[in-house]
Formats: sequence, structure tokens, C-alpha cells
Amino acid sequence: MNIDGRTRVIVHLAYPSTHLRTPSFFNPLIEQQGRNAVLVPWQVSPENLPKVWDALRLCESLAGVIVTIPHKTDVAGLCDELEGAARFLQVSNVARRTEDGRFIGRMYDGPGYLQGLRNEGHEMRGRRVLLLGAGGAATGIAHSLVEEKVERLTIANRTRSKAEDLAAKLNTEFGTDIVSAGEAVGGDHDVVINATSVGLKADDPLPIDPDSIQSDALVGEVIMQPDVTALLEAVRARGCTIHKGKHMITGQTQLLADFLLGPLGAD
Ligand code: ATR
Repeated sequence: MNIDGRTRVIVHLAYPSTHLRTPSFFNPLIEQQGRNAVLVPWQVSPENLPKVWDALRLCESLAGVIVTIPHKTDVAGLCDELEGAARFLQVSNVARRTEDGRFIGRMYDGPGYLQGLRNEGHEMRGRRVLLLGAGGAATGIAHSLVEEKVERLTIANRTRSKAEDLAAKLNTEFGTDIVSAGEAVGGDHDVVINATSVGLKADDPLPIDPDSIQSDALVGEVIMQPDVTALLEAVRARGCTIHKGKHMITGQTQLLADFLLGPLGAD
């Protein structure tokens, strides 16, 4: 990678940043495409985020930011404009900086997750899906799952009211009644997706009892470090098909690059 005075910088805001894998997918892609840009991890605590954000507005080399745990909701509030699903969900995982220091936020976790599933041969249309979590990543994925016309979507979250609010919002937005809040129990769901942050830390408990999941179900993660989480290991031992968290990134890397840097050849 040839970094020079014209290199456009993208910072990856996270806390902690030690688990980040996006740079290892993103940087080779933009290098291969001959784009003069680089993605750099920045570990920023939630309390310092507003101050850092104000400083980023002034950085003229900055193309934008990619955002992950725990900043996606806060960043949506800090953006000057939100587009598409980000506006509906008030959650943003990427923001482009304009020349005059404004930020335009979008949300690609949902489209990226669905593309990642598709790339691995998994279609979601007509499936019965249990989604664990109602935070930033989960809301984006939930939005895309309903858009994709799953048969049923159950959302289970530690704070149940957040799952109920999200279910109601999605049913209203799409004019449907297929989304509901429920318990973290596999039951007759044929797809289970962990979109909580449980599993990031080595001593975390499992986000769901693996024995409650059908042995022919597909179980997906959003957590990408470790590559195979304790949950994926446990359900694989039961015979389930597993879908690693890294596919959420591989599915959306190109989408993020095009949004932040413009179409190929424009930077
Ligand atoms: P992200 O933007 O990556 O989704 P987030 O918005 O902070 O991160 O959301 C984290 C999700 O993990 C939430 O659904 C959270 O549940 P709450 O809404 O109840 O906070 C869930 N989560 C985090 N820690 C958890 C824990 N120890 N047990 C169960 N769920 C947890």
C-alpha cells in the first residue's frame, strides 16, 4: 500500500478496537482496485466520541468513518443527515464526510449481512428467523430480513422493550405482522442469528441455549473475533450449519468503499 500526501483516510471507530477485522478485508480490496485510501482503526470511548467527532469534521483528508460496537446509535445522532435504512432505524455504521465537514450516515449492516449469507448460498426468503439482539447491528439486519420477505421474524433481546419497539416499528414500516418480540429459544425457527455483543469476550456466556436450536438450523453470528465463537462451536457439534460473523463484512466491503470513496475511478 502506497500512502502519500493525497491518500484519503477512513477511520474505524470502535471501543474496544482490538477485535477489528474490517481493515484486513477493506484495505486489500481498495489496494487491489488501485484506490488511494486507507482504513485505520481508532479506539475511542463512548464518552469521548462527541469531541473526536467534532475534530473529525475538521480533517480535510478524511473520506469518512466506519463505525462499530458500541457507537452505531450515537453516530446516527451525530450525523448531519441520514439516508435510507439509517434514517428509519436511527442507526448508522458508516458516515461520509463532505468537503464542508458535514457527515452523511448510512446503514449497511443489514444489506451486508444478507449479501454475506447469499454469498455462502443461504437465502432468507420464506425462512423462520430468530434474531438475538435489538442494538445497532440487530436493527439493521432485522430491517433487511423483513425487506427480504422472511416468513417470520422473532426478536429476542435482554431488554425486552427494545425488541418490542423494534418489532412494532418494522411491522408498521412494512405493513406486516410477521415480526414479534420473543424469548431466546430456538424452537421451530430454522435460522438463528446472534446479533448481540455476547461472545466477544472469552468469558461471556452463550447468548442462547444451543440445545434449544433444531439440529438442522442455520446459525449465524455477527461477532467476527473469534472466527468461530463458542456459540458456533456448540451448535456445530449439534449438527447445525454455521455462518461466521466475518461474512457481514465481506458482504458489505464493496458497498462501504463505493459510498465513502465514490464509484471506482472517481477518487
Ligand atoms: P451493536 O451496534 O454492535 O449492535 P449495541 O447497539 O451496543 O451494539 O447492541 C448490543 C446488543 O447486545 C444489544 O442487543 C444488547 O442488549 P440490550 O439492548 O439489553 O443492551 C446485547 N447485549 C449486550 N450485552 C449483553 C449481555 N451481557 N447479555 C445479553 N445481551 C447483551
